[in-house]
Formats: sequence, C-alpha cells, structure tokens
Amino acid sequence: MVDVGATLQPGEMRLFQELIYREAGIRLADVKANLVQGRLRKRLEALGLDSFRAYHDLVTSPGHDDEFQRCLEALTTNETFFFRHKQHWDFILDDLLPEWKRSTGRGTFRAWSAASSTGEEPYSLAIALDAGLSQSGCKATVEATDINTQVLARAKAGIYGTYALQKLTPHCLARYFTPAGDECHQVQGRIRSMVEYHQHNLQEPSRGQPCDLVLVRNVLIYFDTASKAKVVTHVAARIRPGGYLILGGAESLSDPKGLFEYVRPTIYRKRSP
Ligand SMILES: C[S@@+](CC[C@H](N)C(=O)[O-])C[C@H]1O[C@@H](n2cnc3c(N)ncnc32)[C@H](O)[C@@H]1O
Repeated sequence: MVDVGATLQPGEMRLFQELIYREAGIRLADVKANLVQGRLRKRLEALGLDSFRAYHDLVTSPGHDDEFQRCLEALTTNETFFFRHKQHWDFILDDLLPEWKRSTGRGTFRAWSAASSTGEEPYSLAIALDAGLSQSGCKATVEATDINTQVLARAKAGIYGTYALQKLTPHCLARYFTPAGDECHQVQGRIRSMVEYHQHNLQEPSRGQPCDLVLVRNVLIYFDTASKAKVVTHVAARIRPGGYLILGGAESLSDPKGLFEYVRPTIYRKRSP
C-alpha cells in the first residue's frame, strides 16, 4: 500500500484557521482544507512529524519562529508579478506623479507597498517612480512590508523568473534588470537600493514618515470585515492628506469614517482633516 501521509482532521483544520486569524486577521475557509493539507504535509514530512496537531503545537511553541514563518507562508497566498493590474501603473505614471510634481515639485516621493510578498510590487513601484520622476530632481523611496519574513528574504535578493517578468517590455527588462542565469533576471542595484524591506503585520499600527502613495493590493480579500476596518484605519494614519491609497483590482474600500474620497475604481485619496 502507498503511504499518502497524515490526513488533516477537521479539528486540526480549525486549529490552523484560529492560528491564521489570530496572527494575521485572515479568514481561511473550510473549503481550503485540501490545500492546507497538501502544503503543510510537506513540512510534517521534512520534520518527521506524524500529525498536523503535532505540527501546530510545534509552530506555536516558543523558539520556533522560522518554522512559524514557513507555516504562515503555507497558509497564505503570495501570488504576485511585476506591473500587476496595468490600470494602476497607468494612473501612477499619467496622473498621480505629474500632479505631485505640479503641486510639490521638489523633495522626496514616499511610497509604501504594504503587502509586498516576494518584491515584484515594490520594485515595480521603484521602476515607475524612477521613470516618472527622471529629470525632475526629485527623489523617491519605497517602503516594502509583509507579515512573512520568508517572502521578504526572497524579495531582497531581487531575482525573478519568467512568470514574475511576464508583463515587462523588453525595453524595461534591458533597462532595469541584469541576466542572472536560467532565464532569471535580477533587479539592478540602483532600483533595489530605493526599496527598504521590513516585516509588518497590517493588523498593527505602523510608524514612519507620511506617505504620498500606499498600495494595499490583493490582501484585503483574505480579511473579514473587522480585520479590514482595522487595516484601513492603520494605513490611513500613514498617508498624508491628499495622498493616495490603491487596493487590488477586485477589492473595494470599506470606509465608514469617510477618511478617503473615491477617485476611480480601487483608487482613493485621503481627505484633508
Ligand atoms: C497575494 S499577495 C499580494 C502581493 C502584492 N501586493 C500584489 O498585489 O501582487 C498577499 C500578501 O499579503 C501578505 N499578508 C497576509 N496577511 C498579512 C498581514 N496581516 N499583514 C501583512 N501582510 C500580510 C502575505 O504574506 C502575502 O505575501
């Protein structure tokens, strides 16, 4: 008989559902049980554990931060690629940056990619800002955060294969990347140095300079109403009045406090107090 490995029991699924909700605000639906089983089974095998409960106990016990991060990665979706959702990049280059240059005209443009995953989004931002602000004498910085340190480590290396690079024009690839073997390309050092990575949980308040633009894309869909409201309040506190918030292509803003005005689908502007 072929040994297919441990089976995820409904009670064990509930343990992981509670864990990911408590730690990240994510609602993991029951229908994801097969996916969770498949992804976590690899960790059980690597560690020689015979049940999902044993794995849960291990990742929730002190001194297992690295394994906890691996568990987090297995339970979340990290899907991303360069210049995802073209309308957003058109808006940034054709509307937002020209307006910012007209009204501010100097200084540093500050952007934050608030669920940056493996780095494709913050590097797309850095490239767009480099192109949009060239010859203006202005600088740009990109803060990039994610709850998961595994994806952040990959982001810092800045090396990508064909899937991540699918939307790039040959011109962009030649200008901002260098070949890194095996059909991979690395983001050039000058662009990498514009991006600063650190771990941050969107369920917590964030500290730092006020931002001109924050991207919170393709992460709100995993939160319930209470978690979403918390994230919007925390993120709004980091945007300067008149600054922009961009959500994922299929996401909409729940904003009972009226902090933002609607600009166009998935794009919002923070009101002045
Ligand atoms: C689908 S990816 C989105 C990547 C990118 N923003 C995009 O749109 O292409 C979702 C990311 O959100 C992160 N994430 C999930 N919960 C989070 C939380 N509570 N705080 C910060 N990041 C979180 C995951 O680790 C994952 O990397």
